[in-house]
Amino acid sequence: MAHKKVDKRILCIGAGYVGGPTMAAIALHCPEYEVTVVDINAARIAAWQSDELPIYEPGLLDVVKKVRDKNLFFSTEIENNIKNADIIFVSVNTPTKTFGEGAGKAADLQYWEKTAREILRASEHDKIVVEKSTLPVRTAKAMDRILNDNNKGIHFEVLSNPEFLAEGTAVADLEHPDRVLIGSHESETGLAARKKLVDIFAHWIPRERIVTSNVWSAELSKLVANAFLAQRISSINSISALCEKTEANISEVAHAIGMDGRIGSKFLNASVGFGGSCFKKDILNLVYIAENYGLHEVAQYWESVIKINEYQERRFVQQMIKVMFNTVAGKKIALFGFAFKKDTGDTRESPAIFVAKKLIEEKGMVIVSDPKAIPNAKNDLLEFGENIVYEPDPYKAAQGAHAIAILTEWDMYKTLDYKRIYDSMETPAFIFDGRNILDHDRLFEIGFSVFRIGRPSLTHF
Ligand SMILES: NC(=O)c1ccc[n+]([C@@H]2O[C@H](COP(=O)([O-])OP(=O)(O)OC[C@H]3O[C@@H](n4cnc5c(N)ncnc54)[C@H](O)[C@@H]3O)[C@@H](O)[C@H]2O)c1
Repeated sequence: MAHKKVDKRILCIGAGYVGGPTMAAIALHCPEYEVTVVDINAARIAAWQSDELPIYEPGLLDVVKKVRDKNLFFSTEIENNIKNADIIFVSVNTPTKTFGEGAGKAADLQYWEKTAREILRASEHDKIVVEKSTLPVRTAKAMDRILNDNNKGIHFEVLSNPEFLAEGTAVADLEHPDRVLIGSHESETGLAARKKLVDIFAHWIPRERIVTSNVWSAELSKLVANAFLAQRISSINSISALCEKTEANISEVAHAIGMDGRIGSKFLNASVGFGGSCFKKDILNLVYIAENYGLHEVAQYWESVIKINEYQERRFVQQMIKVMFNTVAGKKIALFGFAFKKDTGDTRESPAIFVAKKLIEEKGMVIVSDPKAIPNAKNDLLEFGENIVYEPDPYKAAQGAHAIAILTEWDMYKTLDYKRIYDSMETPAFIFDGRNILDHDRLFEIGFSVFRIGRPSLTHF
């Protein structure tokens, strides 16, 4: 393979939900760049090379197919690719630490640090290293230390370019981002590197949407963006509990407040709770950082966003058990949706995991249905083995069930033939709409007892 002119070789380390789609977008819009994505997970790389991509994301396969093996390559060969690269994006995972100092809150930076050391070991010329992963503020300092404290005479310029894409809409988000954020040191080399990265994104993103800042602001902005988004969900969910006590209707409240331009209408859907790999871990990370600086009130404020989310999940499943005559033992319960949101197969931190585990603890018989997330669900619920049934077809999943719980807002669940489903279920048949997406009056007419978030229940008894 003939290499392009120096400066035009991009490498991304980490071929996950972020690395794969972002590099596909760059390759598509920057044909003169050669983009390679590497990962230590050989199965993931093989999947990126096939038509069964390792992640489900609407429209992604089309983009990948346009550029794969032209200027987008997937590989497990890390060392040589580092050697050749001019710009290295690092999008490895940064989960919450599960051990030692900061366990349960701080970011686990072992994969990140390992990657930095690999970059240093394999490099033979100056490089720009871009933090794509979400990292604690001031990580770039540690990165600088590891990389630039070398006796090879090589200079590494560290930039922060946090990713704001949302799973399920990644392709559209990358195509038309609200903004791209690029943080750099404000030194001569920092500003020069910043310009190179701006030039890449300027291939398809209007210049006014490419925001530049110092490196610390960029790192912190990503954590803060996720904290604010999650806070909106916890805020509306906390009010949903109050609606259920007062006969106010959460949809009406959300509509009324969302029309206020200062509040805005997005992210105001009450639900069983937020999930996904980022919100909880990034808020915990923010909490940990605040605590480390002695800002305990700030830490407590943000931690309460997570507490409300846990409360909402707990409340949902407790209500299920309570209204089903205080026992679900031996009852079949079909879970419609296991992904943490629609249009993705990702189940990381999905409320469905909590709900499924609680129901199994109560000796319920759980049937998991989801159009895309069953392989991940099987992994999440591995410990329960044969005790759980997986059935992608919702009609089959609901057969003989006492209850259905809607846990993901997949569009397909809105248009199912619920009369047919009701006729195949045990009676009284319950439906718990954890996403408030169904036509509740119609379901009630059919015969279901309907429980929803932030609105009075519709029951036949
Ligand atoms: N998923 C999202 O929606 C999203 C959005 C914005 C930002 N982020 C952030 O981006 C980062 C990556 O998230 P993700 O969801 O893509 O994670 P992911 O787990 O899907 O992917 C990370 C990949 O990195 C690989 N990896 C780990 N160590 C490696 C090493 N030393 N060398 C090569 N590969 C290595 C893993 O095998 C894995 O495939 C995280 O910091 C996350 O917080 C995620």
